Amino acid sequence: MKKSTSLFFLAAIFSANSLCAQQKKAVTATDQKMNTFINQLMSKMTLEEKIGQLNLAAVGFDVTGPILSQGVNEKIEKGLMGGVFNTFTPQAVRKLQELAITKSRLKIPLLFGYDVIHGHKTIFPIPLGLSTSWDLDLIEKSARIAAREASADGLNWTFSPMVDIARDPRWGRIAESSGEDPYLGSLIGVAMVKGYQTNSFSNKDAILACVKHFALYGAAEAGRDYNTTDMSLIKMYNEYLPPYKAAVDAGAGSVMASFNDINGTPATGNHWLLTDLLRNQWGFKGFVVSDYTGINELEAHGLGDLQTVSAKALNAGTDMDMVGEGFLTTLKKSLQEKKISQATIDQACRRILEAKYKLGLFADPYKYIDEERAKTEILSQKNRADAKTIAEASMVLLKNNNQLLPLKKNAKIALIGPLANNKRDMIGNWSAAGEWSQAISVMQGLKNVAPDMDITYAKGANLVDDPGILKLINANGADIVADEKSPEKLISEAVSVAKNADVAVVVLGESALMGGEATSRTELDLLPNQKDLLKALAATGKPIILVLMNSHPLTLVWEDANVPAILETWFGGTEAGNAIADVLVGNYNPAGKLTTTFPRNVGQIPLYYNHKSTGRPYDGVSNEKYKSRYIDSSNDPLYPFGYGLSYTSFAISPVQLNKVSMKAGQTIQATVDVQNTGDFDGQEVVQLYIQDIYGSVTRPVKELKGFQKIFLKKGETKHVTFTISTEMLKFYNADLKFAAEPGDFNVFTGSNSRDVSSAKFSLLN
Ligand code: NOJ
Repeated sequence: MKKSTSLFFLAAIFSANSLCAQQKKAVTATDQKMNTFINQLMSKMTLEEKIGQLNLAAVGFDVTGPILSQGVNEKIEKGLMGGVFNTFTPQAVRKLQELAITKSRLKIPLLFGYDVIHGHKTIFPIPLGLSTSWDLDLIEKSARIAAREASADGLNWTFSPMVDIARDPRWGRIAESSGEDPYLGSLIGVAMVKGYQTNSFSNKDAILACVKHFALYGAAEAGRDYNTTDMSLIKMYNEYLPPYKAAVDAGAGSVMASFNDINGTPATGNHWLLTDLLRNQWGFKGFVVSDYTGINELEAHGLGDLQTVSAKALNAGTDMDMVGEGFLTTLKKSLQEKKISQATIDQACRRILEAKYKLGLFADPYKYIDEERAKTEILSQKNRADAKTIAEASMVLLKNNNQLLPLKKNAKIALIGPLANNKRDMIGNWSAAGEWSQAISVMQGLKNVAPDMDITYAKGANLVDDPGILKLINANGADIVADEKSPEKLISEAVSVAKNADVAVVVLGESALMGGEATSRTELDLLPNQKDLLKALAATGKPIILVLMNSHPLTLVWEDANVPAILETWFGGTEAGNAIADVLVGNYNPAGKLTTTFPRNVGQIPLYYNHKSTGRPYDGVSNEKYKSRYIDSSNDPLYPFGYGLSYTSFAISPVQLNKVSMKAGQTIQATVDVQNTGDFDGQEVVQLYIQDIYGSVTRPVKELKGFQKIFLKKGETKHVTFTISTEMLKFYNADLKFAAEPGDFNVFTGSNSRDVSSAKFSLLN
């Protein structure tokens, strides 16, 4: 049995803290050395050179913003650049680093950043998919491999992890998140920071993490990207801020300010956020970078002209300006006009120099350029094998009537759908350096793992044929080319292929480009052309296995009612096809669990399991009108948070507590027996939720507080114990004091947030 994850969480935070404490003691001498070095260096720097360190340019290509930095080489030579991003390979990085080291006056090395989001060249599932593995070791491993590959390729800084709580499936960037839960999101953020940075930057393959997007970027109104956030402090502290704090506590070296407005002040210019909270309350010691032209965008937010907003951003605590050059072009004037102080510029400059020092760049500016390692480690067989394991762990079986899955390895199948024989989309959104040509399609995967399978293929539909959507997602080049054939012709071909097979495996969903930045949707159904295909296939009466690839959680009411088996695979990365095939034929028994609620319809959004009650909660069955409900829809989600099936079945006994009360500082043990009652070996994620029944402020109906992913052989039973501590009962009250309140609590355990048993205990005065 695995160790309790709730304990692990505390241990992770604790060890990160104690590591910090130890480091604080041990590092004093190192810090002094660093300070002396930086003092000496800064004493030689001109004002222009100091401001130059605050400048981050985009080199090469760009997909996320309108401006590409100009005159980069000249600026590097003049010492007007702190770092660059969007370029990699040992050769390209060496060229630019050489400019800084041989041509600039003070030879200050550059930072090389990149969006290494879910893998560098070996691509893992999109982050939402990583999170559905509920496997922190595997998630950390994915970040470790990403850092090893990236560091061999010249990079020393990744713009990851993104730890934004995301509860709105309309928001395209939900794909880059770990879903809706602050507890799980915190654990994942910590695992990723550890994976990127390791214990020490003296390791050649440890790169700087960047916690983003600080803060509340996932709470954009109406799920429309970049939109306003307005939120009470108590909600922020309890529900949205914990993952950022956990990642900062774990030692993340940098933080990215988010684009959005927060209660009237956009994050990039928000002193409360970037200084009072991040630095003064949380003790963050690294540097803050803006998002892409985030400083300039304060103008459009309505805070002033470029000079005004640049000064505001610096004064708020933004240290580095991504792409916009507001700092570079206006800070000198603002200093002369006393709108900013020399000390504030020095402080920002020092923070960036410290990061470079800690990374070891002053000792060896070429530390992260390793042609040999790049050749042998990038996309190695070992990395690909790990990517397959991780992709398998990410998949969520949503439905499996009559055990339609797994398929026999010699089955006669119709393989249908625009994502069935497709490599381009497998690596998903934000796989920046990933090469889709390296990816395995579902078709290829099935051939690899089941060579005796009789497969006939039909595309059945275009991936996207809505001209409006196509225009936007093809904005950076014609990625999706629509088939010449009419939709009717494509469907009729697919129907005849299905009629001649025993079963149809239909691979549908979104294009990878329909997820990520600037891809908000107002409807979450399968696109109409794909839905038409699915309906036509269902009408043949052949059993259908629907394999989904998507960034947004979709609304699947029709599919759930009409399709016997549904497997959610997200975008599984380089090895997606092999992993999906392994799951389809039962070489791997799926065990993923949703980390976002799947709503029935868009009108229910936002819909998340850890919501508050109302004064008139609806029980879901009665016919009373004056309850908190809809007249045209159920309140319930289609698939709840924590949900996911297996090819086997598990029986979880009612939760037992070893005592019914405890005092502060004591613990209670909650135990269940989990039995594998089906025909396959398999894994179950046993989940622990707690509800504070009466509080000084209203509390959620339940909150995840622990989980254990356990493996059980067919017929095996295991005893699972969770230790409930006072720490787990704490929350931020109306005075933002973090404390547990004496009173009664419900404990829930089960296989998802809905199907639980419960018991009650009290915290005594
Ligand atoms: C904008 C995105 O919001 C951010 O996540 C990313 O790291 C930067 N662009 C740099 O590409």
